Amino acid sequence: MMAETVEGASSPIAPRRSPYRGKLIAVEGLDGSGKSTQIYLLKRWLELQNIRVSFTEWNSSVIVKEATRRGKKQQLLTPTTFSLIHATDFAHRYERHVIPLLRAGYIVLCDRYVFTALARDAVRGCDRDWIRNLYSFAVVPDITFYYDVPLETAIGRIIGGRPVLKFHEAGMDLGLSSDPSESFRLFQGRIKDEYSRLAAEYQFTTMDATLSIEAQQREMRAIVARQIDLALFARPRQTRA
Ligand SMILES: Nc1ncnc2c1ncn2[C@@H]1O[C@H](COP(=O)(O)OP(=O)(O)O)[C@@H](O)[C@H]1O
Ligand SMILES: [Mg+2]
Repeated sequence: MMAETVEGASSPIAPRRSPYRGKLIAVEGLDGSGKSTQIYLLKRWLELQNIRVSFTEWNSSVIVKEATRRGKKQQLLTPTTFSLIHATDFAHRYERHVIPLLRAGYIVLCDRYVFTALARDAVRGCDRDWIRNLYSFAVVPDITFYYDVPLETAIGRIIGGRPVLKFHEAGMDLGLSSDPSESFRLFQGRIKDEYSRLAAEYQFTTMDATLSIEAQQREMRAIVARQIDLALFARPRQTRA
């Protein structure tokens, strides 16, 4: 007798694998974990091999920028409305940028992906299943690098470069502490707990983010080369007439 597989029976929050020709690589981790540094170096390495590669990062698209700015300024947003605005923003980037490039056979690099929202929104008090359901339109990356770093190391790297923390960046809306740097510390600690949960749930590739930039980059390149047949993504060489 054949095993029964009922499509509708799978949970709506079950991770969806990419059906596209391209490959999706995401980096996640705390502020100051070294994500942007690593993905930039990976991008350069791929470009030098003449590989079709594109980069996108977590920032506000024009369609929600104004709503977010006003909402934040006047503290009008609740965890739910804050989450929905970010989801709209992400959906815009995903459908306009990520999906067309994956269809066209690119390697798409994402500096933060849905997991950033999954972590932050859970810390802000949204229901975890509700958030996963909200983002269930997005495919799970082929590789998600998680830059695992002790809280103190990450905070040390951030505070050095950015003495003034913004209200939401410091998680001040959570009311954990009236001192911005203390609030930031508590907020980041909770985000890290969420990332640990997500790392197991979505099989992140965990990197030791305390190592040197060079050592981490060597490891990242080795993992990418092992898991993706890069030759398939190289542009045909120009031949002279
Ligand atoms: N492995 C590392 N060791 C020490 N400092 C690092 C390392 N990786 C990144 N940094 C520094 O830490 C800061 C934050 O790095 P960045 O890549 O912007 O992190 P993220 O994008 O995760 O916030 C930068 O000043 C960067 O030069
Ligand atoms: Mg960054």
